[in-house]
Amino acid sequence: MQKQFDLTNKNAWVTGASVGIGRAYAIALAKAGANVAVVDIDDRTGEKTAEEIRALGVKSVFIHCNVCKPEEVEAMADKVVETFGRLDIAVNNAGIGILGPDESYPISDWEKVIGVNFTGSWLCCAAAARKFIAQNKTDAKPLGGKIINTASMSARIANCNASYDGSKGGVVEMTRALAAQWGRHNINVNCISPSYILSPMHASTPVEVRERIRSLTPMGYMERPEDLAGPLVFLASDASNYVTGVDLLVDGGHTLNAWLTPLGRDVPPRVSPEEEIQSLVHDMNALEVPCNEDGINFDYHPEIANAYKAAFGIK
Ligand SMILES: NC(=O)c1ccc[n+]([C@@H]2O[C@H](COP(=O)([O-])OP(=O)(O)OC[C@H]3O[C@@H](n4cnc5c(N)ncnc54)[C@H](O)[C@@H]3O)[C@@H](O)[C@H]2O)c1
Repeated sequence: MQKQFDLTNKNAWVTGASVGIGRAYAIALAKAGANVAVVDIDDRTGEKTAEEIRALGVKSVFIHCNVCKPEEVEAMADKVVETFGRLDIAVNNAGIGILGPDESYPISDWEKVIGVNFTGSWLCCAAAARKFIAQNKTDAKPLGGKIINTASMSARIANCNASYDGSKGGVVEMTRALAAQWGRHNINVNCISPSYILSPMHASTPVEVRERIRSLTPMGYMERPEDLAGPLVFLASDASNYVTGVDLLVDGGHTLNAWLTPLGRDVPPRVSPEEEIQSLVHDMNALEVPCNEDGINFDYHPEIANAYKAAFGIK
């Protein structure tokens, strides 16, 4: 059974892998045995993450690529195959959020969010599929490949604004459309939907808000990037060969909760608040962005900090 999850000799790319969820994905694939290309626009932290992955005993390379730019995505895909010999797993995770009310939301912000989250994911899916289809022609037994996109619980609940929620809804439906088309090439296309993850994206979220999220989440703690490691390795491995077009929600039960009051607990959650923030603090240090002991810097995403402070009456 364990062999089904083994990724030894598999070659992967992960976009948005310098920090946060992408870095945790890259480390998870490497720990399962895969060689991993760290793909990002942040070269300095990306190089560090690639180095961290090489220390795990697999091959890793950093590739600069803005996923919105077709020519950069194409060059990235070529570079991965040139470096590792082939591509088996494409994790399309790069994403951004820009807060703001829709009635006054600038079209430039709309285009940025849709550009990275939706168009960028599609460009990476298509580039990966072209590699898998080409490899099938020379494989003794066509292996196809695995594509895993990052969506969000925001694809199914109103959580941010229309650009973010809509882009993630688009990723889920795009995943299903591509899965239906590319099964004939032995390509599986799935996505993972996290909830509120303590990555740098949430570095400006006040502790009061984190406490509220914990209290409304059945599993009782805030999701960490590493909570996605198992689901990702499952979808990247032979263990999921018959799973395609699926949106795997990994939210600790958060979106199940229709009660408006804190849930209470009988036992402590599996992860303590101190353990929750380890990855976030690591990433803030890697980014060389100062933060307090909770991993918070309100100036990192001031619009998130201000929106939460206004909603919760925090000074
Ligand atoms: N943090 C959360 O609460 C949360 C929840 C659900 C889904 N997500 C999704 O997970 C993914 C990763 O989020 P995160 O929390 O790790 O974010 P993050 O901001 O901490 O990290 C995102 C990474 O993507 C890179 N990136 C941004 N734009 C890029 C581009 N155009 N091309 C290549 N790389 C780019 C950044 O440099 C950064 O390294 C995103 O798609 C996000 O929407 C996040």
